[in-house]
Amino acid sequence: MNHPATAAHPARSSECPADHARLKAWVTEIASLTRPERIEWCDGSEEEYDRLCADMVASGMLVKLNETKRPGSFLARSDPDDVARMEERTFVCSREREDAGPNNNWVAPGEMRATLGRLFDGCMRGRTMYVIPFSMGPLGSPIAHIGVELTDSPYVVANMKLMTRMGRKVLDLLGRDGYFVPCVHSVGAPLAPGQKDSRWPSNREHKYIVHYPETKEIWSFGSGYGGNALLGKKCLALRIASIMAKEQGWLAEHMLILGIESPEKKKHYIAAAFPSACGKTNLAMLVPPRVFRDRGWKITTVGEDIAWIKPGKDGRLRAINPEAGAFGVAPGTSETTNPNCLRAVAHDTIFTNVALAPDGDVWWEGLTKEPPKELTDWQGKPWTPGSGRKAAHPNARFTMSCAQIPSVDPDWENPAGVPISAFLFGGRRATAVPLVTEAFDWAHGVYLAATMASETTAASVGEVGVVRRDPFAMLPFCGYHYGDYFTHWLGMGKSIAQAPRIFGVNWFRQDAKGEFIWPGFGENMRVLKWIVDRIEGRVDAVRTPLGLHPRFEDIEWSGMDGFTRERFAELTRVEPAAWHREVADHAALFEKLRSRMPRELYAQREALEKAL
Ligand code: GTP
Ligand code: SPV
Ligand code: MN
Repeated sequence: MNHPATAAHPARSSECPADHARLKAWVTEIASLTRPERIEWCDGSEEEYDRLCADMVASGMLVKLNETKRPGSFLARSDPDDVARMEERTFVCSREREDAGPNNNWVAPGEMRATLGRLFDGCMRGRTMYVIPFSMGPLGSPIAHIGVELTDSPYVVANMKLMTRMGRKVLDLLGRDGYFVPCVHSVGAPLAPGQKDSRWPSNREHKYIVHYPETKEIWSFGSGYGGNALLGKKCLALRIASIMAKEQGWLAEHMLILGIESPEKKKHYIAAAFPSACGKTNLAMLVPPRVFRDRGWKITTVGEDIAWIKPGKDGRLRAINPEAGAFGVAPGTSETTNPNCLRAVAHDTIFTNVALAPDGDVWWEGLTKEPPKELTDWQGKPWTPGSGRKAAHPNARFTMSCAQIPSVDPDWENPAGVPISAFLFGGRRATAVPLVTEAFDWAHGVYLAATMASETTAASVGEVGVVRRDPFAMLPFCGYHYGDYFTHWLGMGKSIAQAPRIFGVNWFRQDAKGEFIWPGFGENMRVLKWIVDRIEGRVDAVRTPLGLHPRFEDIEWSGMDGFTRERFAELTRVEPAAWHREVADHAALFEKLRSRMPRELYAQREALEKAL
């Protein structure tokens, strides 16, 4: 029988392949705090992935899907209390409260360390602690960074295998003293000897997602879901990286990266920020309408959630996707909205909280027009179309490797990154915000991004559909004071020779009947083409108080019958009353951030008010 691990009886460990004193000492230190039964150093191999998935199928944590219909794929069902990111439980514990800013929850680091010390004490009892060395970005890229996650969740290991470059090769790169960001994760559900594990272990009482900016550490307790648990993603690649980026002169952003190739074979890369579940994955994998494809327009995918962007020697900003996979929203994904994505999740995918069909395949709302006659819902209960509830959770997700995306860009793993020609910022706004607005200049673009707002979505626990300011789509992810972040963005524009153009977009404006005015999805290509035409200097624009708008005749309309000049006017209209309310709301945001707000943005606000 295995005795419980104690300081006197340390946990059994798989052979430690690391020759890195600080890493080894830290692993030992965390193990003596959390007391796992075993320690397993992950090598990142296919064999390891297959073995962990098979173990999870055996224990009931994963369901193996139909091997013919969905080869190499699995379904996980989470605890109904653990279905999304939890902004209320996310903390940035800087020494000074002011440095975290009003945009973050803050607790003094000493107090938080004491709380977490109690929670992590013995929290991995009866479980295996996995050591996951991972690289965010192509191995060895000058834009990449390394982290090591310790976790007691095999589901996290399997997802990290798809989402990052992980395992042995990262240890080799770390060498004897390479820098890594330490990330500690526990589901917070220790097992007593002989206790049967639950399907989705987590801690219903305590959940904490904690970042220490000065020491660049991440500690996550109690949740096994997505951004709460896959610590390379939001915690490292956004919150901690945003701090590193400010210190070192680069950008870590909640942005997709796409390539757009014209019939003349000229290629531009665009990075676009949208809040969670507002269309990054869809835009990144966009399939252009037939007329565009026939003429030779092409869209390619570099990333669909996060971009790391550094100034290149050529005076341009160069971006990489720090992730190797996607953890994307399943509901709404269909042959019409995102065919590339459907191909990508056709095999070797982990689904979480989607519905299970009788034939062992998956289903979610929006996948087909007609729902199947019967299903097992995301909680494992029988479901029929008459059940009156959703079969898949609205934040149900798929995890797959980016290499499976048919539109993946040939340069998606280029360690030097791709040069960015334009930044897009877009929220989910039923009113006021026009289809597309080009900023007058960089500082105006920063204002436009700093004041964007969006309706909340199911990607985060809380009320859905409430409009809130979400500057740069980074509200849940900016690891420091927003005022300092705006200042950093203003400075980046000045420091680089060829700053990208900045545009605001809104696919979600509604008419009086509450219907989307713009068809969106593939048709967004028409807006992307206009943006390229602007970059290339091929078309003029209309000056409005908000910025530069397209003329009706400069949008390519062929293949999209019946979209009238009047409809377009409705989509691009600037309503003074609505915008006076908007500007008042901008002022309220700036007031909250006042102690660190850059003056330039006040000047922008005043100019807008005057223009209105
Ligand atoms: P995270 O992974 O949470 O960061 O989100 P994301 O931005 O990648 O979200 P995703 O692309 O998965 O957005 C999905 C949601 O946006 C679904 O509700 C889609 O229906 C909706 N959506 C995406 N593109 C469009 C569009 O062009 N028009 C409309 N109306 N809805 C869209
Ligand atoms: C988001 O919420 O923006 C996501 C999903 O991309 S999660 O990884 O859960 O944060
Ligand atoms: Mn995201």
